[in-house]
Amino acid sequence: MSDAFSSTQIPVLSPADIVTARRATRDLCERLGFGKADQTRLATAVSELARNVIQYACEGVCIVEDASDNRTRRIRVQVEDRGPGITDIALAMTDGYSTSGGLGAGLPGTRRLVDDFQIESAPGRTRISITLHKPL
Ligand SMILES: Nc1ncnc2c1ncn2[C@@H]1O[C@H](COP(=O)(O)OP(=O)(O)O)[C@@H](O)[C@H]1O
Ligand SMILES: [Mg+2]
Repeated sequence: MSDAFSSTQIPVLSPADIVTARRATRDLCERLGFGKADQTRLATAVSELARNVIQYACEGVCIVEDASDNRTRRIRVQVEDRGPGITDIALAMTDGYSTSGGLGAGLPGTRRLVDDFQIESAPGRTRISITLHKPL
């Protein structure tokens, strides 16, 4: 068993799961030696993505993993659901765009908070992968 590739999978169904996902993210960030500001950045991003899962897809999963290699400390969080998907990703990534009368700041804000942001979406599946890294 190695810590280096540890990964935690959190089901996301209710607001309490957002708290769990936040905490798991913060804990792994801290264990990997990221500072408080980075911990907060990534935990905030995870909250937004998990909230979207509950709001737009009802349920999904959040996978928090240590994706470090021998030169870089790296934490990756994948948030995935089998909901309706995002029809127009470019539009959804625009500040202020919301189909629910929300602030429309979740996705674009998340992208600005992290080092790497990948989104894949089709009807029946959305997966967003975010990463923070720092050189060793
Ligand atoms: N997991 C998801 N599944 C389907 N649609 C989503 C998902 N996440 C986001 N969206 C769509 O992208 C839009 C923008 O999301 P976001 O930036 O978080 O703003 P908000 O949640 O305030 O509307 C949402 O209004 C919704 O239409
Ligand atoms: Mg949102």
